[in-house]
Amino acid sequence: NANGRLAQVMPSLVRHLHAFAREVDLTVAEWTTAVDFINECGKMSDDRRNETQLLCDIVGLESLVDEITSKMLATSNSETPSAILGPFYRHDAPLLPNGSSIVQNLTPSVPWYEQAVADSAFVSGRVLTSSGMPIKGAVVDVWHSAPNGLYEQQDESQPDMNFRGRFETDEAGCYAFYALRPVPYPIPDDGPAGKLLGLLDRHPYRPGHIHFMVYAPGFRALTTQLYDDRDEYVANDAVFSVKDELVVKFIPRDGDPNARWSLKYDFVLGRE
Ligand code: DHB
Ligand code: FE
Repeated sequence: NANGRLAQVMPSLVRHLHAFAREVDLTVAEWTTAVDFINECGKMSDDRRNETQLLCDIVGLESLVDEITSKMLATSNSETPSAILGPFYRHDAPLLPNGSSIVQNLTPSVPWYEQAVADSAFVSGRVLTSSGMPIKGAVVDVWHSAPNGLYEQQDESQPDMNFRGRFETDEAGCYAFYALRPVPYPIPDDGPAGKLLGLLDRHPYRPGHIHFMVYAPGFRALTTQLYDDRDEYVANDAVFSVKDELVVKFIPRDGDPNARWSLKYDFVLGRE
């Protein structure tokens, strides 16, 4: 039961905390600074911003627990690796027909119009079982930032649910949609977590990525991200979430007025 787990976990946590304090000769003044810092993170957090999670992310803790959890639950080694959810998921993204676009209201008056055209991409693939059978009716829930590096809820200039959509796989397990090649951008760095990064001489950038949540009845939901291999931060993610199997190459696309690039990627789900 939960108390049993707590009784197992707490002695270990206390042991490691004490060992850490002894190892670095932690002083009262330093401990007080740390308490103030964590309080600042808490005060800043709300529905739109989770500074405490961000703090965990920049020390690699969310990526580590994601890795531990997915290893623990995996039933085969062909499953697509997971990646962290991140702070910008929204429920109820629009359910769209395959082949439609998650880019809303793109007109020449949008400041990043040129870049959006240059980065327009057709993303498609299948959702499969670990033995390679197509899964029909799986939901592929996708989200990415705008070319200015902001997710729609961070940016009043974007329409609601911009760059978000859900697609259902067909008989052959296929999904398809139009999106943009993602750009690298800084995690929110105007709070305590960003200040800590600065003090450590670390950059706040994540590589360009597209988020996915893929789920189907009878299978374990997969939360993951695909990383565009074009930018330098694939090798240097501020939150340590990149895995080799999730780094992808966009290929130039000919003869499609709606996309300059294409990406094919199959997701493999594990049984529940
Ligand atoms: C983090 C993750 C993201 O995917 C993102 O877009 C911004 C921040 C994070 O782990 O803090
Ligand atoms: Fe993200």
